[in-house]
Amino acid sequence: MRTLMTNIGELVTNEKRDTDPLGIRHDAAVLLDGDRIAWVGDARSALAVAGDEGLEVVDAAGQAVIPGFVDSHTHVVFGGDRSAEFAARMAGEAYTAGGIRSTVAATRAATDDELRARLAGFVSELHAQGTTTFEVKTGYGLSVHDEERLARLAREVTDEVTFLGAHVVPPEYDDSTGSAGDADDYVDLVVGAMLDACAPHVRWVDVFCERGAFTPEQSRRVLEAGASRGLGVRVHGNQLGHGDGVRLAVELGAASVDHCTYLSDEDVALLAASGTVCTLLPGVEFSTRQPYPDARRLLDAGARVALASDCNPGSSFTSSMAFCIAVAVRDMGFTAAEALWAATAGGAAALARDDVGRIVPGARADLVLLGAPSHVHLAYRPGVPLVAQTWVAGQRI
Ligand code: NIG
Ligand code: FE
Repeated sequence: MRTLMTNIGELVTNEKRDTDPLGIRHDAAVLLDGDRIAWVGDARSALAVAGDEGLEVVDAAGQAVIPGFVDSHTHVVFGGDRSAEFAARMAGEAYTAGGIRSTVAATRAATDDELRARLAGFVSELHAQGTTTFEVKTGYGLSVHDEERLARLAREVTDEVTFLGAHVVPPEYDDSTGSAGDADDYVDLVVGAMLDACAPHVRWVDVFCERGAFTPEQSRRVLEAGASRGLGVRVHGNQLGHGDGVRLAVELGAASVDHCTYLSDEDVALLAASGTVCTLLPGVEFSTRQPYPDARRLLDAGARVALASDCNPGSSFTSSMAFCIAVAVRDMGFTAAEALWAATAGGAAALARDDVGRIVPGARADLVLLGAPSHVHLAYRPGVPLVAQTWVAGQRI
């Protein structure tokens, strides 16, 4: 099937032109052929280029078209509800990683079909809000059986699945509760039978390298074990305080280190000199009342920065990339253009993908028609549903 989207007032291609990293074109058109973008150019010459045979024409009516959002960090396969924890936090309680265990209990108790139905709901939610590529992590199973289930179910909805068996130490390995094993015994399980069970379903390995979760030494074991099985490396780090997550991620050539709420000058310099993307997650600071990281510091140093939702029931229960952009612009020092780049091409870089996040010939035909004349409206009109149409691989969702 061929579709011509034409009469686009502002087209964001993310193909850098002169000094414009968004590669904006005005009065533009895009030809979709099957699941790919076949041509990008001037609306006036579009019909002559496309020919009208078997062509569906979509009139963008002068509005903006952007690449579909690439959400490189979600945890949307889980059971249960933690709204009471959120309410308590808004009343003054601090966020701790310990809440993860209540989701683990609810997830273990859920059937495959219950988890599958919940996941399908999140996929619809993501698509409706313009997200066309998304990553999903395991990490609420924390047993061989349950982590394998989560990896398998996530793989039913995305190619970008991450093994996060090292999310926290589950209660049965917590020696402060008098259990038989300890954290190192749990890491033995993660790098052994759990990785064996999950590896066939996943592309990435991740670890929560943080006080209260896994030490740098334990984190290194997990990441090296995953890498030795051919998995790409990503890291949760520097979320709750300063630490070794960034250093470890850069040393191991991780595609991305995520959170980065607390960065030293050395961390910023390491990121700027590396190929590791720094993925910021504004929903987390928003819903944990932690300080927002200063994105200007990273951008001015030359680091590659992505934005993602971190959609999860504890620290950030939003699936809206537009919301993340609005917060990033309002409170983290991004320009609207930088934030959009980070939520599209930046997310693609964090997933080591060059076929998404851009509207260029050959890329996957993933795009979003906004009910707005410019991408700036994503930050300018926070909370307003501006996504008019979402196209994934050439199909309107
Ligand atoms: O990315 N940092 C660790 N994991 C999640 C939080 C998960 C939870 O609280 O359930 C995060 O913020
Ligand atoms: Fe996360």
